[in-house]
Amino acid sequence: MLFIKINLRPNRSLQRFGLLIPSKTAFMIAIAPYYLETQKESEVFQHAFKNKLPLLIKGPTGTGKSRFVAYMAHELDKALITISCHEETSSTDLIGRFIIKGAETVWQDGPLTTAVKEGALLYLDEVAEARPDIIVAIHSLTDHRRELFIDKLGLTIKAHEDFMLVASFNPGYQKGFKELKPSTRQRFLAISFEYPDAKKEIEILMNESGINKDDAKKLVAIGQKIRNLTELGLAETVSTRLLVDAAKLIESGLPKRLSVNVAVVQPLSDDADTIQALNDLAGLMI
Ligand SMILES: Nc1ncnc2c1ncn2[C@@H]1O[C@H](COP(=O)(O)OP(=O)(O)OP(=O)(O)O)[C@@H](O)[C@H]1O
Ligand SMILES: [Mg+2]
Repeated sequence: MLFIKINLRPNRSLQRFGLLIPSKTAFMIAIAPYYLETQKESEVFQHAFKNKLPLLIKGPTGTGKSRFVAYMAHELDKALITISCHEETSSTDLIGRFIIKGAETVWQDGPLTTAVKEGALLYLDEVAEARPDIIVAIHSLTDHRRELFIDKLGLTIKAHEDFMLVASFNPGYQKGFKELKPSTRQRFLAISFEYPDAKKEIEILMNESGINKDDAKKLVAIGQKIRNLTELGLAETVSTRLLVDAAKLIESGLPKRLSVNVAVVQPLSDDADTIQALNDLAGLMI
């Protein structure tokens, strides 16, 4: 996927506070990312954008959530700013901070502030991992107010017409992983991503890797078989991403069974018996 960096205008309105506001950067996606629609997700996204409603994309890893957001940013011709949330990310990282530049103290917008001002799509990846202060910071952006309070400047800014908040999360797939609070969830429209049906997954594999249809079919059949093996107690099962990786390795000339071993089986488990069982099963199918 090709991203080009664009410079966004420095914000003049804050300069009356004696602050130098540096220009910010966001990314325009120059070439349309390949994305195969699996439900009516782009229509939902278009309407969410039109109605200024935030959207939560739920679903297991490797089901195309991030690809879809990049695709929609390109479709809507909007800059995309992605933030991968983790427990170290604070609201300051998102909103902005004062930095020392030479003899001056300069305010630097964080990515959330940039997106709010410039009307970009802000994608909070793995939002459930975000610290509570981030959730608090985005609350006023997720309802009719559509405004951001910058406490360090004592300022409230109205979101640009085209600002849209998109978040993703992987619901309760592992004990100990964080869940989103109902009060936060109810501020978003939500759409569920699942593994695509076989026909679509074969098409994705062929498009993403250039692999032939016969091998794509076999890889998808392996994926489906492993997905049905609930007794193995895998934390996460075979994603489309893993199948695409295996397809790429096969297409680049790595032996098929080895490709499946390193791209599909090994990433799923560290248990020797499970690895053996999965390799045996895959070996019969490819
Ligand atoms: N509908 C789809 N159209 C095109 N490619 C897809 C689709 N679904 C999955 N893929 C493939 O799967 C890969 C993984 O997708 P992506 O990174 O978007 O997953 P994700 O849901 O964001 O995963 P994670 O939760 O781990 O971030 C993509 O790089 C792409 O190759
Ligand atoms: Mg992702």
